[in-house]
Amino acid sequence: MSETMVMMAEKARECAEEITKYDEVQLVSHIDADGITSGAIIAKALERAGIGYDMMFVKQLDETIVKEIADINPELTIFTDLGSGQLEHITNYGVNAVVSDHHRPQGDTKFHLNPHLFGANGSYEISGSGTTFILATQLGDNRDLADLAIVGCVGDMQYRKYGKLVSLNRMILDTNPEVISSVADISLFGKQTRPVYKMLQFSSDPFIPGLTGNEDACIDFLARIGLQFANDEKWRRWIDLSEDEKKKVTSSLLQHAMQSGISSYNIGRLVSEGYILLSEQEGTEMRDATEYSTLLNATGRYMQAEVGMQVCMGDRDEAYVQAQELLHNHRKNLVDGLNFVKDNGITELSHLQYFDAGNTIPETIVGIVAGMSHSSAGNRKLPIIAFADKDDGYKVSARGTQELVNRGLNLAEALSVVCQELGGAGGGHDIAAGATVPFGKKEEFIQKLNSAIAAQLS
Ligand code: C5P
Ligand code: C5P
Ligand code: C5P
Ligand code: ZN
Repeated sequence: MSETMVMMAEKARECAEEITKYDEVQLVSHIDADGITSGAIIAKALERAGIGYDMMFVKQLDETIVKEIADINPELTIFTDLGSGQLEHITNYGVNAVVSDHHRPQGDTKFHLNPHLFGANGSYEISGSGTTFILATQLGDNRDLADLAIVGCVGDMQYRKYGKLVSLNRMILDTNPEVISSVADISLFGKQTRPVYKMLQFSSDPFIPGLTGNEDACIDFLARIGLQFANDEKWRRWIDLSEDEKKKVTSSLLQHAMQSGISSYNIGRLVSEGYILLSEQEGTEMRDATEYSTLLNATGRYMQAEVGMQVCMGDRDEAYVQAQELLHNHRKNLVDGLNFVKDNGITELSHLQYFDAGNTIPETIVGIVAGMSHSSAGNRKLPIIAFADKDDGYKVSARGTQELVNRGLNLAEALSVVCQELGGAGGGHDIAAGATVPFGKKEEFIQKLNSAIAAQLS
């Protein structure tokens, strides 16, 4: 075990000791895959410890919501996958709290479990679910929840920096081989659930010229390498192929990608490490950490996080069916969102690029669309900033690259500084961050952010 893990476990023990003083607690978590798995991990651990809970999912934690929680006046509130950026509000409103989060901390509090406090970076070393898993292991024997911890960090794309999970995430993965395993494989989405040609056809990240979006071309591509299917034969999924067939498809795909001139960055991303949930049934979304996390995002980002949480808690009937319906809708929204960006273009300034989706892309998924546009077709020399309308202002989502972060980019810091000047609030991570900006201040915001990023990169 690393020193950081030991220190986090010690802090988790203090938090667990506090939690076990209560019979009933309020849980508050984030609506994305990491937040939902965090919520499920703590809920399971509490259930097993005989502690009751009430669950609340929020899009983001801000002063209004902290005040609402203070009004409910729970004896103890456990915040998971959020809270570290709003400790000031939590303290000011007198909320008795345990915070288990991985976002860049602003302030501190007594029961605060966050990797940044122990020298680890919450954007790739451990996520909210991993942090909460460490907390859960101090509440009882909850090691079987390691699979959910991995789904959460995969949902937050923590494998991106090195193409695989590292550091604390790796430790959680490697020490729980009975529930989760890793495998180097093709990185396309849908290996468990989609026919192979559909998997190719819908590959949006990376985008594969000549194949993405073209069903006939995909079927033809497979036929040319001998994966022909008789008319009455059901199209097989990736998991149905033999190892030999998988190798053939992968090498042909790499060859095709090189010939079609896609960037070496994206060619490298065609093969990556995948994570398999061993206690889940083959051929279901839950078997594969990427598919699972997308299923969860499809619930939470449409204000149905409870449905996703029920799936994490083991529901394979009603909640699972509902989640699959939501997934269908989510995929459609992502495709529409990507097309919007392609059709409307991205405006480049000296140190950032941006687009404004207005009300055409839901603000809860505009960050995903920004990230996907950035990696599949965007200019990776500049960070990308996306705007979408929400009730109380513009939702801003920002995404950078590892190279820019290495040169000094810190989007959470830049957003938070500019928001302090203009009103609004922002935070997150160096490589990915978000904010709310008051209506009417978009131009000023973008200019100030451009300067702030220029200063970071100089
Ligand atoms: O709220 P939260 O911490 O869960 O969100 C993290 C965000 O950072 C995700 O949207 C994720 O896709 C993004 N991210 C990224 N590149 C990374 C790491 C995270 O775009 N290397
Ligand atoms: O908000 P963030 O950038 O983390 O969004 C990442 C999400 O986008 C992940 O949950 C991932 O499953 C989803 N995604 C997707 N299809 C892709 C790539 C990412 O649904 N081709
Ligand atoms: O919403 P989006 O996916 O763009 O969020 C990116 C990151 O910024 C997430 O980690 C999210 O929790 C954080 N964020 C924040 N404050 C906001 C909006 C997003 O800290 N107002
Ligand atoms: Zn998170």
